[in-house]
Amino acid sequence: MKKVFIKTYGCQMNVYDSERMLDALAEQGFTPTSTMEDAELVVLNTCHIREKAAEKVYSELGRVRAIKTVRAKMGKQTVVTVAGCVAQAEGEEMLARAPVVDLVIGPQAYHRLPELAAAVRTEGRGRVETEFPVEGKFDHLPAPGKKRLQSRGASAFLTIQEGCDKFCTFCVVPYTRGVEFSRPVDAITAEAEALVGAGVKEITLLGQNVNAYHGLGPDGRDWGLGQLLYHLARIDGLIRLRYTTSHPRDVDDEIIAAHRDLGQVMPYLHLPVQSGSDRILAVMNRGHSAGDYLRIVDRIRAARPDLALSSDFIVGFPGETEDDFAATMALVRDVTFAQAYSFKYSPRPGTPAASMDAAVQEDVKSTRLAELQALLKSQQDRFNGAMTGRVLPVLFERTGRQNGQITGRSPYLQAVHVNGPETLLGQIADVEILTAGSNSLKGSLPSPRLEAAAVPQLAKAQTH
Ligand code: 5AD
Ligand code: SF4
Repeated sequence: MKKVFIKTYGCQMNVYDSERMLDALAEQGFTPTSTMEDAELVVLNTCHIREKAAEKVYSELGRVRAIKTVRAKMGKQTVVTVAGCVAQAEGEEMLARAPVVDLVIGPQAYHRLPELAAAVRTEGRGRVETEFPVEGKFDHLPAPGKKRLQSRGASAFLTIQEGCDKFCTFCVVPYTRGVEFSRPVDAITAEAEALVGAGVKEITLLGQNVNAYHGLGPDGRDWGLGQLLYHLARIDGLIRLRYTTSHPRDVDDEIIAAHRDLGQVMPYLHLPVQSGSDRILAVMNRGHSAGDYLRIVDRIRAARPDLALSSDFIVGFPGETEDDFAATMALVRDVTFAQAYSFKYSPRPGTPAASMDAAVQEDVKSTRLAELQALLKSQQDRFNGAMTGRVLPVLFERTGRQNGQITGRSPYLQAVHVNGPETLLGQIADVEILTAGSNSLKGSLPSPRLEAAAVPQLAKAQTH
């Protein structure tokens, strides 16, 4: 059996892409390994979104080179591939700078990986595939085989949309992933049904701009994400649906209605806002104001009052003043988030913001980031703390770090740990939340023997 080692950096779409590369390679007799030393094919699936991404890859390539050298001494060939967004951005440069690399392959050409890797083995190194081909890679990627499907677990990703036409001035995505593309509804439905057939209970629909989805429907018209959610919710056995990442500009009535009507759509939404200052939002080319964002949040919360909101923030965008930053803090106080990611602005080569004046000093960025993160953490703590004493349905996905522990996710995407049997993996069970930390909850499964006695006590406790 030939072995492939894949290391995945960055976002969930890269995680999905790595799975699909493994699907394509499985057809050529490759099985995955977690030990690089054993692999004939090494793939680094890279991310370019923020600072030092390329540097991290070059330093990892140093480690790969050492292993490749040892393997070569034993007469074993190793094909080293750099895939993903750094591959797309660096292209030929990568081959010149890192002689260990045999193959550089951008995110739109994964379906060609098996063929290109085979060509390296017979014809030698030096292939770069970073064109955005006209034909969709999805049409060429083989459907995962039965064995590969079974490796997906209880919760799986499914890319429905890729690329971005919005051109926020700080962002490399439109350059690395290309223009927006939506997969047809039938292809998505077939993939979702296959996943559910293999035991998947939860599907997270992925796209750089997932709610800009406008794929060809079975009726010959373009369907939006809302319509797709209603359609997928009809799949028997698909219990949970999520989608990420959304743009505020593309939240429409049908998506909001899906949150209201569909029990399968989880009450969690990642809706990046980046800044609370209208001036900065305009220079970022976000196409919405802080007020627009607040109104959207109000509308979704009216439809689904327990919605947990998450967001992305950038501090220290060029020209950001103390007042601009104060507006971001004010927006956070207004909205209250269950979770968030926040970053110091870092210039990305080739993006418009990289050549803007009025860079914010590093120490100012650090101070603002710390202040913002402290506020976001206090909101996250409060959100998690409010779960104690409640009973939440948890989808168990894996064994925990401690013996006898299993771990899953609440509807609000919180990690939940309990002591429980491994037979619950892949299942949803009610958990009583006992304690809450910043990043996870601990709870217990109701003991069947005590259940009858415990229920009235619990109900009583909740009335106090
Ligand atoms: N600098 C800092 N953060 C960035 N992000 C994207 N580009 C940059 C950049 N140049 C952040 C945004 C985005 C998230 C995925 O990464 O907040 O939503
Ligand atoms: Fe980047 Fe903006 Fe597109 Fe998001 S919407 S991927 S931040 S350009």
